[in-house]
Formats: sequence, structure tokens, C-alpha cells
Amino acid sequence: MKNSELNQSRAQATPRGVGVMCDFYADRAENATLWDVEGRQYTDFAAGIAVLNTGHRHPRVMQAIVAQLDRFTHTAYQVVPYPSYVTLAQRINELAPVPGPNKTALFTTGAEAVENAVKIARAHTGRPGVIAFSGAFHGRTLLGMALTGKVAPYKVGFGPFPSDIFHAPFPNALHGVSTAQALQALEGLFKTDIDPNRVAAIIVEPVQGEGGFQPAPADFMRGLRAVCDRHGIVMIADEVQTGFGRTGKLFAMEHYDVRPDLVTMAKSLAGGMPLSAVCGRAAIMDAPLPGGLGGTYAGNPLAVAAAHAVIDTIAEEQLCERANALGRQLSEHLTALRASCPALAEVRGLGSMIAAEFRDPATGAPSAEHAQRVQRRALDAGLLLLTCGTYGNVIRFLYPLTIPQAQFDAALGVLAQAMVE
Ligand SMILES: Cc1ncc(COP(=O)(O)O)c(C=O)c1O
Repeated sequence: MKNSELNQSRAQATPRGVGVMCDFYADRAENATLWDVEGRQYTDFAAGIAVLNTGHRHPRVMQAIVAQLDRFTHTAYQVVPYPSYVTLAQRINELAPVPGPNKTALFTTGAEAVENAVKIARAHTGRPGVIAFSGAFHGRTLLGMALTGKVAPYKVGFGPFPSDIFHAPFPNALHGVSTAQALQALEGLFKTDIDPNRVAAIIVEPVQGEGGFQPAPADFMRGLRAVCDRHGIVMIADEVQTGFGRTGKLFAMEHYDVRPDLVTMAKSLAGGMPLSAVCGRAAIMDAPLPGGLGGTYAGNPLAVAAAHAVIDTIAEEQLCERANALGRQLSEHLTALRASCPALAEVRGLGSMIAAEFRDPATGAPSAEHAQRVQRRALDAGLLLLTCGTYGNVIRFLYPLTIPQAQFDAALGVLAQAMVE
């Protein structure tokens, strides 16, 4: 079928709420390359929204899935358990940036991991409140939406939301919010909205994903840890987008000198298979009663097999080092383009979690138009880019960390063409 015919069928068969960025349809993919149903080739800098740090169809991941496919595909772990779930939990317990001893529970999506982290924090503290941040994204379920700090399109028409969820500002130097102001506003919440003794958890992305690839300053993270310690609040790091090598460390929290109590992870954990996890201090993780956590598909055996292979691949192919090298090259390239692209206001990020933020050069206002223009031009030239940010004015780069160097260099050339005004 042609892309145009598929687009007509899609409009009739699926609701507009499932928004789709591209007007072409995937046929096959390999590492950093994707082909559509008409045979056109794209370099994939979207990677299924941060899922493919190990690339499309990494041979090692494929092999692990096929081997599991030959044995069994589903038992429901809570009915008949399997060893690979337990050994994956052991590996995550060792690797996660949480001072152990740790325990890990597996789920299916990022939103589910977030929901369960909040459930665990509430069960542990016996408190209801949760504090998240402006610009945060934590998923599309009701609680995920409630925690998300961006209204359109995620929250429009879907309220009322669960109660006892509050938002504090996230520091953002470019938009005039300092760490001191953000921490002061958090203290303000305790005066105006909720007694800190009623707060179960503070949930924070070490680098905001949808919010614009905005790294949390080190002193902010330290400040949050101090607030959590002072009031007995569980600190949750949402590493759904930042985890598994993207920032140049296995987990982004390794860039900071404080440790959270719980970590949520998903996306690149299983190289394209749906899998998520909550890992945290054993005393907190054990708060819910038996049967309180889980799900029919939680910890699916095919996805678990893929995750083992992903963790092996990141170590063996030194993908954290690769993330740093590629990110450095991209940052330098973007910075050099500032002279020919006055709308490029800032280049920032950690490792390969790099953002390019655009502003109208005349007014200084955030410019989604500029970001979209670059995205459209790049796509026309065969390079798939994603935008993000509260104002939609940021381009984020999520190429597989396994991308061949020559393909990466060629993509930077396309990017330069797309950005020149
Ligand atoms: C930080 C963060 N948390 C949670 C989610 C939700 O994950 P999912 O879409 O798998 O439910 C996302 C997805 O983009 C995310 O970036």
C-alpha cells in the first residue's frame, strides 16, 4: 500500500487523539536507518522516542528475543515466575543509582512505572501528596497526566485529575528561573498548599525530556534531597527517558552527588520491547502488600530477554562513552551553526541528550515555528528529528548510540542545511 492510501485509511480507522508526526509508514528498520513502505530511506534521530539507544533490531537483542520465543512467551510472572525476571531485577539492583540494598519490580510502560513508584511511596509513608515540576512529563494515564507539568495537549479535556498533586517550578536559566527561586517556590508550596508531613514523594526528571531536554542543576538536586530528608519524603528520579546510556552514564542520576530513593525506567531498557521498572531501597519497595504490585503483562519474558541483551550491549560496546563522544561532536556542530542561524538561542544537554532551543531573533520569544521549520526541512532531506519543550521550540536528538560514524556525520550535514536561514 502507498503512504497516501494508508493516510486515508488511518484518518477513518483511528482517532485524531493518537496524533501522528510523519505522513509515511514504516516498513523495516536496521540500527539508525528506517525505510518506509515506498522504499524511501530515513536516518532515525527519533529512535521511537528514546527507546532505541541500542538501535533498531540490534543483533544481540534479536537473538535473545528469538531464543525466548522458542521457549515461552507468557506465563504471567505472578502466576508462574521465571528466572530471567529475577536475574534482571538483580542486575538492575546492582546498576541503579540508589544506595542499596535494592529491590526491583517490572512493569510494561513508563507511565505504569511512574504510577507504581507513587503507589510504593504512598504505601511506605502513609501519606497522599506528590510534588512534580513545571514542564515535567510523566505519562498519559490519569496519575501520569496529573503529574505532568504541561497542559496542551496532554491534559486538555481529561480532568478532573487525582487530588493532592502539586507542581513547583523547575529551574531554567534561559527562562529566568534560578535554583534558589525554584527551591523557594517549593518551600512556598508547604506554606500555601500542603503540609510537608502529608507529602509522600517528590518526582523529578534529572533531565526533563518532553520539557525541553533541560538538565536539573546539581545544586537543585542537592536541595531536593535535603527537603526530602528533612520531611521524610521519598525522592523519585524518573529516568524513563534519561536511562540506559543516553546522558553518557547508564543513569543520569550518576551525574549528581545525591541519590534518589526510587528510580523509574523504561524506553531504552529493552531495545524496542515494552518493559519498565521501579528500582528502589528495599525497605520502601517492600511496603505494598503481596498482590499490590504487578500486572498481567508486567515483566513480559520476551521484553525481559531483550533487556538482558541491552544491558550486555551497552557495556560491551561502551555506549556510554559513545554517547559522550557523539554528544560532544553534535554540540560543537550546533554551536558552530549559531552564526548562520540567529534563531538558535541555546545548545545544552548531557552526553547525547542534546537540545537546540530556538527563539525569534527579533523579539526573543520562544519560536516553535523555527524548530518546526528545521524539523520539516530535515525530514524532507531524510533525517527524522523530534521537537520538545513547554513552548515546542526545542529540537531534541535521540539517535541510536550505535549509529555508524559516517551516517552520523552525514546527518550533521543535513542538519546544517536545515538550520541555515
Ligand atoms: C520522563 C518520562 N516519564 C514517563 C514517560 C511515560 O512513558 P510511556 O509513554 O512509556 O508511558 C515518559 C515518556 O515519554 C517520559 O519521558
